[in-house]
Amino acid sequence: MSDLRTRYLGLELKNPIVHSASPLSESLDKMKMLEDAGCSAIVMHSLFEEQIQHESRQLDHYLSYGSQSFAEALSYFPEAQSYRVGPDEYLNRIASAKRTLSIPVIGSLNGVSRGGWVEHARLIQEAGADALELNIYMIPTDPEMSGPEVEQMYVDTLSAVRTEVTIPLAVKVGPYFSAMGHMAKRFKAAGADGLVLFNRFYQPDFDLETLEVVPHLVLSTSWEMRLPLRWVAILYGRVDVDFAITTGVHTADDVIKGVMAGARVTMMTSAILQHGMGHVKPVLAGVERWMEENEYISITQMCGSMSQKNVAEPAAFERANYMKMLHSWQSDPTGFLP
Ligand SMILES: Cc1cc2nc3c(=O)[nH]c(=O)nc-3n(C[C@H](O)[C@H](O)[C@H](O)COP(=O)(O)O)c2cc1C
Repeated sequence: MSDLRTRYLGLELKNPIVHSASPLSESLDKMKMLEDAGCSAIVMHSLFEEQIQHESRQLDHYLSYGSQSFAEALSYFPEAQSYRVGPDEYLNRIASAKRTLSIPVIGSLNGVSRGGWVEHARLIQEAGADALELNIYMIPTDPEMSGPEVEQMYVDTLSAVRTEVTIPLAVKVGPYFSAMGHMAKRFKAAGADGLVLFNRFYQPDFDLETLEVVPHLVLSTSWEMRLPLRWVAILYGRVDVDFAITTGVHTADDVIKGVMAGARVTMMTSAILQHGMGHVKPVLAGVERWMEENEYISITQMCGSMSQKNVAEPAAFERANYMKMLHSWQSDPTGFLP
């Protein structure tokens, strides 16, 4: 039997499928079901900076960029009572999850500034979380804000959270940096033990009836995994952190590819929301079957085997791939072109 165990953020996990932050962790029963379904760890849904301090001056500073006023920006946030839980209840949930589950529980803080809210990182640690994931999700809409300023803001937020905790800390970010590799190094230098790549940006939609800008959540597909797959493959062995892939992990093949790129864990949310928790076991069985057929004895052995450092053609991850891809278009599968 192949060994599915992996080590992520210093945690010994029984396999590389972690349930990423989602509404399923709002219920202890559902978390228990995720454990029984085979997930090796659970990232809690996030506690948002906005939940902790609406009136923070730092938050004001960043939110007011690009919006006509701070008040207007806040008016678009969910009402306080529609948040999943308040900060105290969030901490209680971590504590009861820790009492009930035997798999690791990773807390999740979601914010963009250095305000007093970062103290909650320490409270999450005190509640018993095995590790913390910091999700920095920001849309820099102000034309006056430069790339270096945006990058510094990420680093400052991470550093502020780092000073609050001693448990392992991962940072979850989006792909929109002009120098992803350099940012990854800065995250490591600022104290990140892990990088969770990538946040999925939910693009707003227009409702043509009401002429409002509306949120419209569409779950991911496997295809979307290629972006984090590429970047984990590029960064593996170059930046000394544990990588996690989030976005587009649906099938056994996705998990295998993610690990071969260099991820210690692959995170799954959409697939579980779409197909139910029963989806995890067949995926794990598929991973194990593939490993046996291809004579891999362990996840550790597989990890990074297809990273840029280890493949025969490193250029496949760079500009050459783009050119090759465009030139690979040979025929017209639709048959509609003249
Ligand atoms: C309904 C829903 C709620 C989510 N809530 C959170 C959250 O609270 N914090 C967070 O960091 N990510 C959250 N995510 C993002 C997921 O953790 C994950 O990164 C994203 O869905 C991409 O992975 P997937 O392709 O497996 O769905 C949420 C996703 C969904 C679909």
